[in-house]
Amino acid sequence: MTSSEALENKEQERLFEARVASKRVVARDMILFELVALDGMPLPTFTPGSHLTVITPMGGRRNYSLCSDAADTMHYEIAVKRDGNGRGGSISMADEVHEGTILTVSAPRNNFELSARASKSVFIAGGIGITPILSMMRGLKRIESGHPFQLFYCTRDAESTAFADVLHTEFPGLFTIHHDNGDINNSFDFWPIFEKPMVAHVYCCGPKGLMDSVADMSGHWPSAAIHFESFGVDAKAFSENTAFDVMLQRSGKRVSVSPEQTLLEALRASGCVVRSSCESGTCGSCKTGLISGEVEHRDMVLSDQEKASQIMVCVSRAAAGELVLDL
Ligand code: FES
Repeated sequence: MTSSEALENKEQERLFEARVASKRVVARDMILFELVALDGMPLPTFTPGSHLTVITPMGGRRNYSLCSDAADTMHYEIAVKRDGNGRGGSISMADEVHEGTILTVSAPRNNFELSARASKSVFIAGGIGITPILSMMRGLKRIESGHPFQLFYCTRDAESTAFADVLHTEFPGLFTIHHDNGDINNSFDFWPIFEKPMVAHVYCCGPKGLMDSVADMSGHWPSAAIHFESFGVDAKAFSENTAFDVMLQRSGKRVSVSPEQTLLEALRASGCVVRSSCESGTCGSCKTGLISGEVEHRDMVLSDQEKASQIMVCVSRAAAGELVLDL
């Protein structure tokens, strides 16, 4: 790795240590962590909709949205959903991080900003997807001139609904909670919202099914008015992770990717510098040239045409055999 590449990595990460000041369960399998600076000083500033990267106790990096008010930098709040079928990062956060634990985190970054052009906002959240939206609603509430907004929050049932108490206290009359009780036929009907495009921006964060449905229904809206954020593209929608190899055409290196690693993690472990931001297949930062190989594309960025020659290495994997990348 050259010194400029190392500097680029360091700049991108901007890691620091923060202490867990409190930990509490906010819904079934959902835990809220409050983080503070070790020296008791304000933390780096952030804007509503931001996320940070946490080095989890198992060693992997995971992105979590900040749900606290951006006006208060004396603490950050992040919520973690313990995913028993995941790669282990959320399990280690839920089971091994306690009050007093020191975590290494990145400075916040934002790929899900409130649009300065919006005069009205519609928020659509599913499950843990409420976290960035909570900070966005808190930000809008502080605008003195007022900025109308409404939240539609879809969850399985009352026990899996995080922050219901916060919504009732801070945003009375501004939200609708819908429980589908695990029945897809009981999903919330968003068509009345999208049927006639209105002068509003839509922000959606939640499981892949919800985001796909919003994308389908908003096809006739201006694309700049529809915003998505996804952390952890729904792993259950794809086949189980298996090991595979990649050949890096320009450097001639061969890199092995284990089932527990993302392709991005394996590339970095081999000394390769690859830009990233969301690490969840939604921002487009890690787009990498694909020379050959069969890919299981798990991102929400690439068009069908682009999928023939590009891969988002933060989430996508080989479907079979080896991949050859333009690196
Ligand atoms: S880092 Fe955002 S799509 Fe890969």
